[in-house]
Amino acid sequence: MNEMIPGIRPTIRDVHPYVAGKTTEQVRRELGLSSVVKLGSNENPYAPFPTALEAMQAALATIHTYPENSFVELRRRIGSLYDLSGDHVAIAHGAGGMLETIARAFVQPGDEVVTLSPTYGLYREISRFMGAEIVTVPVAEDHATRMEDLVAAVTPATKIVWLCNPNNPTGTVTRPADLTPLLDALPPHGWVVVDEAYAEFADAEVLPDSVSAVRSGRHVIVVRTFSKAYGLAGARMGYALADPATITAIDTVAEPFNANRVGIAGATATLDGGLAEVRAAVEKIRNGRARLEAALAELGMEVVSTHTNFVFFALPDGHQADAVADALLHRGVIVRSAAGWGYPRHMRVTVGTEEENETFLRAFREVLDG
Ligand SMILES: Cc1ncc(COP(=O)(O)O)c(C=O)c1O
Repeated sequence: MNEMIPGIRPTIRDVHPYVAGKTTEQVRRELGLSSVVKLGSNENPYAPFPTALEAMQAALATIHTYPENSFVELRRRIGSLYDLSGDHVAIAHGAGGMLETIARAFVQPGDEVVTLSPTYGLYREISRFMGAEIVTVPVAEDHATRMEDLVAAVTPATKIVWLCNPNNPTGTVTRPADLTPLLDALPPHGWVVVDEAYAEFADAEVLPDSVSAVRSGRHVIVVRTFSKAYGLAGARMGYALADPATITAIDTVAEPFNANRVGIAGATATLDGGLAEVRAAVEKIRNGRARLEAALAELGMEVVSTHTNFVFFALPDGHQADAVADALLHRGVIVRSAAGWGYPRHMRVTVGTEEENETFLRAFREVLDG
């Protein structure tokens, strides 16, 4: 279809539009349901937190004016979380916006980029759009990423290794938790972009010390988001950590005013006085996750041990994830079938509140019982 439009970039032919999860409003409207539980997009069910909400409401008073373009204060606060300066931080509309900006800064036609399979789909689409060849590394049998497989995929043409860690949709991490072999294998123009969107839900020791690698000037860009643990998905706030020269290059190709006043206010207030609210919610989610994993295992699901705020599991033989997800949707529960990732029997369910998890489990039992 796109190729019929005169002048359109030919690489658009290779790009699939991003498939977003349904919102609760959409499902209520489309299916005429009064109550809908959304466990499809890995959001934080305990947010928005009072500290962020108050600051965001206050920010509306100046919404008619542009935000500051250099984000000096927010960058300084984010940097100090990691013992880095604000010069090591770039801001964007969500981690998604940051990934796209990084692709724009680095990826050229003919480059190779390495991604996992399955993984978050945006890496492939933005790289194809920039004209790159995609080299895919399947996760291992236990659904974890093996460092040796990533290293083996690197060639002299590798520009970026898009490493989702913990990985979406599997919830697994790269083993062993040390980036050095991968960084050592890169050609001189090669970079590892570690997308740590879910890092706050993982135990620190299962993740590589990617920030140390930034500090010591290795070719690493760390991407993080306020959308998951921080509960600000609708405010679209993400960031990158990298050496200051790389940050300047990223900012050069970024859209002007790459974050809005409301998002900036919410993120800043959270870092100033709302971290305890975030930590308490993460703790509740981790506890809920353990209960959800146990309940699913008890129902006979093959549960993949997760380091995130979602659970990836296989249905028993004879069940199809698309059909089960659809039946759940009609009962007012939004989850993700993994069929689109090539896993027709697997599903991905976000850890919600205790009540939401119970609602899901009740509906799920009904669907399985037919
Ligand atoms: C691995 C991963 N990276 C990035 C994103 C995008 O996050 P954001 O809302 O910050 O754009 C997501 C969202 O689901 C994700 O799962």
